[in-house]
Amino acid sequence: MKGEGIGFGKAILFNEHFVVYGIPAIVSAIGKYTVAKASSFEVPELKLNDNRDATPGYKEDKLEQQKTSINNIIKRMNIDFSGEGVEVELGGNLYAASGIGASAASCVAMARALSDYYALDLSDDEINDIAYEGEKGYHGTPSGVDNTASTFGGLIWFEKAETNIIEKISLPNPVEIVMGNTGKIADTTAAVAGVRERKEKNSDKYKKIFNRAENIAYLAKRALQEGDYREVGKLMNENHKLLQQIEVSSKELDFLVSVARNYGAFGAKLTGGGLGGNMIALTPGKELQEEVANAIEKEGFQALKTVIGVSRSGDSQ
Ligand code: MEV
Repeated sequence: MKGEGIGFGKAILFNEHFVVYGIPAIVSAIGKYTVAKASSFEVPELKLNDNRDATPGYKEDKLEQQKTSINNIIKRMNIDFSGEGVEVELGGNLYAASGIGASAASCVAMARALSDYYALDLSDDEINDIAYEGEKGYHGTPSGVDNTASTFGGLIWFEKAETNIIEKISLPNPVEIVMGNTGKIADTTAAVAGVRERKEKNSDKYKKIFNRAENIAYLAKRALQEGDYREVGKLMNENHKLLQQIEVSSKELDFLVSVARNYGAFGAKLTGGGLGGNMIALTPGKELQEEVANAIEKEGFQALKTVIGVSRSGDSQ
């Protein structure tokens, strides 16, 4: 018996952190994904072989969280190892790093591989639900934005609510991005907790910032639908400023953001939990994408060239 499944990496274009409090976020799957392969294992347990390429130290750092995550997935799927166990191998072309959806992609890929292996025929909604439980292992109370992008693909408007609001945003054309990796492993739980603490202490200041973040989401949605990438870029820059104000950026992130802007990116901001991890630059056209990626690499950082709006069939939409 064998099973296989994939989960997309993701880039949050607007409103990480704010999304935890019900402010809409815009997130996209990227053209890189994790693949999980399940096969039988003689010992009654889940054995993991994590063969993903990763930022040095990432896998070691996340090991305990990963164990909790896998246990959550097993529990949610009611998998019983009273007979034989299962071996899961993680691979694929998504680099395991902070801010790129590595944890969500691995949860989604694993849930799909196990669903396939045990012939459960789970729907995408069910996979998303299981991956959300897995994500709790990595960051306590996730909003659900990462696993949603990783499961469904495409470009998504996401609002955390009693029942999450999940809407596809259609792009007129696929659009290139560059993601720059600071090489710093970041702890999303700590980043989210820090925002909560500061928000409680400075409620007036944070209220204003959160209101603007909400406005930006609506403006960005319209600009994306119209294919007005200059406007999208401007709004990304402003969103980065708000993220700086809630203190989740870092000097490496700010540096990579300024390199990308200096080399012509339409906009650039941190992406994901912040305090390290990755930034995203909007670089429509292969030429601009190449230029910005080269500039980041010349500064000694890793750059990933990909597109936003990747659907499950691999098309950009
Ligand atoms: C992490 O990729 C995104 C955060 O907004 C946390 C979450 O939404 O769960 C920082």
